[in-house]
Amino acid sequence: MKILIVGGGGREHAIAASVAKSKRTEKLYCAPGNAGIAQIAECVPIGVMDFDALASFAKEKEIDLVIVGMDDPLVGGLVDVLEQAGIRVFGPRKNAAILEGSKAFSKELMKKYNIPTAAYEIFDSPGKALAYLETASLPVVLKADGLALGKGVLICNTREEAYSGVKSIMEEKQFGDAGNRLVVEEFMTGREVSVLSFVDGKTIKTMTSAQDHKRAGDGDTGLNTGGMGTFSPSPFYTEEVDAFCKAHIYQATVDAMAAEGRPFHGIIFFGLMLTEQGPRVLEYNARFGDPEAQVVLPRMKNDIVDVMEACIDGKLDQVDLQFEENAAVCVVLASGGYPLAYEKGYPISGLEHFREKEADGYFCFHAGTKAADGRIVTNGGRVLGITATGKDLKQARARAYEATQWVSFEKKYMRHDIGKAIDEA
Ligand code: AMP
Ligand code: GLY
Repeated sequence: MKILIVGGGGREHAIAASVAKSKRTEKLYCAPGNAGIAQIAECVPIGVMDFDALASFAKEKEIDLVIVGMDDPLVGGLVDVLEQAGIRVFGPRKNAAILEGSKAFSKELMKKYNIPTAAYEIFDSPGKALAYLETASLPVVLKADGLALGKGVLICNTREEAYSGVKSIMEEKQFGDAGNRLVVEEFMTGREVSVLSFVDGKTIKTMTSAQDHKRAGDGDTGLNTGGMGTFSPSPFYTEEVDAFCKAHIYQATVDAMAAEGRPFHGIIFFGLMLTEQGPRVLEYNARFGDPEAQVVLPRMKNDIVDVMEACIDGKLDQVDLQFEENAAVCVVLASGGYPLAYEKGYPISGLEHFREKEADGYFCFHAGTKAADGRIVTNGGRVLGITATGKDLKQARARAYEATQWVSFEKKYMRHDIGKAIDEA
């Protein structure tokens, strides 16, 4: 098959690595890709929001399957545009990607179908939100309705913080139109776990669990980022938690979407919080997590193309989804300063170490890199995701941190405590 992946981050590199391993793949393209993906796919300089150019390219190259990895094009309706052009595509249509695209939609869905989540209110105007916040209990959580690069969530400890949050989201439009509506949510406490799943419209098969580290600094300090590292599986995702989620969350979500006339085909990412009252949904995403994909996909035993095709064709019930009995840890190497201002364009050395090490379970997924003058240079906030597998989490973590030393670039920054929580398990 000829396959096109849309996107160009660490997640897409992990997807590309799995697709490249598939016996079904004859030719792999990626738009726009990055310098790491370019080692296993032909990268084409088409932007992820240039739907017409992506459709024309897929037609011209007779692409058999397009895989859409990113939230913006999914929520914007790329899958619909490609399907209308007669192209086979893996990912939810626009009317289903709204599960991620609108937090108000997802909260209303959960309420209607009794899926456990934090209590909430939705506001269309700042006046009503401010009045509500005068008596709401603290801390309180404010969420911009739409996509905001993972930054549209504010946890407010005081009323003043909440008032200024409403102002910046709804009046100053810090996140643009994403702030036209506001979800105000009850604050919950507990451990966070991510569970990714394949969905074919009616059947859902969950993957092994993972856990992200969103804050920039060690000990969960500093600003929120896209994710500084992950580990899989999560020792806190017990059989009891899994049984609860299977009974109340996973299938219930898929059935709810189908009942609403929005059948979901693709990946549903469940962001869960394990509260004292049981697991609650924090958020849904309509795609693989980044960097969750970098620890989950290297552990998957199935041929990913077979599984994706089953999702498109409604045949996922025939798939026996299996993962290795091992563990994986991913440490993100970032540009110093991220998630605020940072410099880029610095040459990266040591990448060649990974070439012969992949069979041994060491992976270097590129996030923000590009080729320049025959070298690979830094080209983003998150630069590389260094992943290693191991027989258990401790070994995987030791191996991942060992491998972070093989690469260097100026202003290289990483957290030193990825997976530290496993010591408490
Ligand atoms: P979200 O994008 O909805 O996952 O929110 C981003 C992060 O904000 C989550 O990973 C949590 O750490 C935190 N968060 C979101 N909602 C809540 C909540 N209701 N209570 C406590 N923390 C939350
Ligand atoms: N790592 C969180 C996300 O991909 O949304």
